[in-house]
Amino acid sequence: MIEALYRAADNRYDCGMKYRRSGRSGILLPEISLGMWHNFGEVDPLSRSKEIMRYAFDHGICSFDLANNYGPGYGTAEETFGYVFNKSFRPYRDEMFIATKAGYDMYPGPYGNWGSRKYLIASLDQSLKRTGLDYVDIFYSHRYDADTPLEETLQALVDIVRSGKALYAGISRWPLEATRFAMKYLRERDTPCLLYQGRLNMIDREVAESGILDEVEGSGSGFVSFSPLAQGLLTDRYINGVTEGSRMSLGRSLKPSQLTDEYFRQVKALNDLALSRGQNLAEMALGWVLNDKRVTSVIVGCSSVSQLSDAIRGADSPEFTAEELKMIDSIIFPVRKTL
Ligand SMILES: NC(=O)c1ccc[n+]([C@@H]2O[C@H](COP(=O)([O-])OP(=O)(O)OC[C@H]3O[C@@H](n4cnc5c(N)ncnc54)[C@H](OP(=O)(O)O)[C@@H]3O)[C@@H](O)[C@H]2O)c1
Repeated sequence: MIEALYRAADNRYDCGMKYRRSGRSGILLPEISLGMWHNFGEVDPLSRSKEIMRYAFDHGICSFDLANNYGPGYGTAEETFGYVFNKSFRPYRDEMFIATKAGYDMYPGPYGNWGSRKYLIASLDQSLKRTGLDYVDIFYSHRYDADTPLEETLQALVDIVRSGKALYAGISRWPLEATRFAMKYLRERDTPCLLYQGRLNMIDREVAESGILDEVEGSGSGFVSFSPLAQGLLTDRYINGVTEGSRMSLGRSLKPSQLTDEYFRQVKALNDLALSRGQNLAEMALGWVLNDKRVTSVIVGCSSVSQLSDAIRGADSPEFTAEELKMIDSIIFPVRKTL
């Protein structure tokens, strides 16, 4: 069957999406980016993937987050992206900010994992083939590798940028001291690290508490938050238990054992608070992350257009009162001092 031609919505930059500058750089990201870790692999319906991606672009979400091994199976989210890019987005390439990464297990043998120069450079070449792109906008070291000299991993990022295969360099999930080293190393080679990717959500605030957010901001870099909805736990998805078709029901990176009595207590209280603010829990959870002005963008995962439209509304959340912020802390950390 011949696929209908796609033409992006003319009002895509006038429908309310706001853009934040990444540190001291020319990168401007939409407050919501679309993440392709789950839901865009070979096991997922291509028509749905395409619909979500087009809806994103039509609503000003020009930032797409990939990694070599997103799927399942590994590499297939990049293939899906490449398919949709070729059919729909190629004329809009210069408007798009496309990220990929390497650092987790991808292919067998000693060079298909971690942070060697050999792995990072070979993996990016493979990502470009799968996506059909000439270059990505940012290439991340996906994780810190304590066994490979940091200089080797970082010099690979410098050389990748100098080769033109990525425009910018980034790091993800690096601990504080290594982050400090990376920021300095890359800046001194005129390839500044312009984005740090870490998990930040109402439950998991380690990047704030460990000083990473401050370090990133102080270095003139931006921060993108992944899993802002704690993979769905900070939505009403599991408020009555495991729902059919959910990430947990599919056994993908969430386990039913996470649905403890304490979890149900928290999620119900958070849900009530969200409803009292006139929004759903997913919207409030995203609004909470974006309330931190050090955050450049939140990367959301979605298995439907309606989830993505919640995310877009979440970026337009009403301001939080001091009392509401305190209430969120006391729901999540009942025995800890509020932050
Ligand atoms: N750098 C890294 O190491 C790293 C690690 C993890 C993620 N990431 C990036 O961050 C992206 C987002 O991570 P994530 O998928 O864990 O994000 P998330 O946004 O915390 O969770 C996404 C899941 O939440 C559920 N959901 C979303 N909106 C909802 C709504 N309105 N109502 C109910 N449920 C809703 C969906 O679950 P169902 O699928 O069950 O519907 C969705 O798949 C990834 O795709 C990836 O690009 C990066």
